[in-house]
Amino acid sequence: MEVSKLKATSNQSDYVVIKAMDDGVNVIGLTRGTDTRFHHSEKLDKGEVMIAQFTEHTSAIKIRGKAKIMTSMGEIESEHK
Ligand code: TRP
Repeated sequence: MEVSKLKATSNQSDYVVIKAMDDGVNVIGLTRGTDTRFHHSEKLDKGEVMIAQFTEHTSAIKIRGKAKIMTSMGEIESEHK
C-alpha cells in the first residue's frame, strides 16, 4: 500500500483541537515507539487554540491545565487541580 493511503487509514491523520480556558495551559507531545517521553511542550494562554495532529513522532498528547479538547470521539474538558 502507498504511504499516503496507509497514513489515511491510521490514527496518524487524526487532529485534536485544544482551547485554553486559563493562562498557562500546557500541550505536551509524547513520542511514538518503545521509548515514551515528552518531545514537545507548547504553552497556551486563555483563549488560544492549538490544532495538533497525531504523527509518526507523536502517539499521545497530554494536556495540563483547564482546556476544552475536541476530538473525533467527542469533546472533553481538562481541569486544573
Ligand atoms: N514535530 C512534532 C510531530 O510531527 C509536532 C507535533 C505534532 C506535536 N503533533 C503534536 C507536538 C502534538 C506536540 C503535540 O510529531
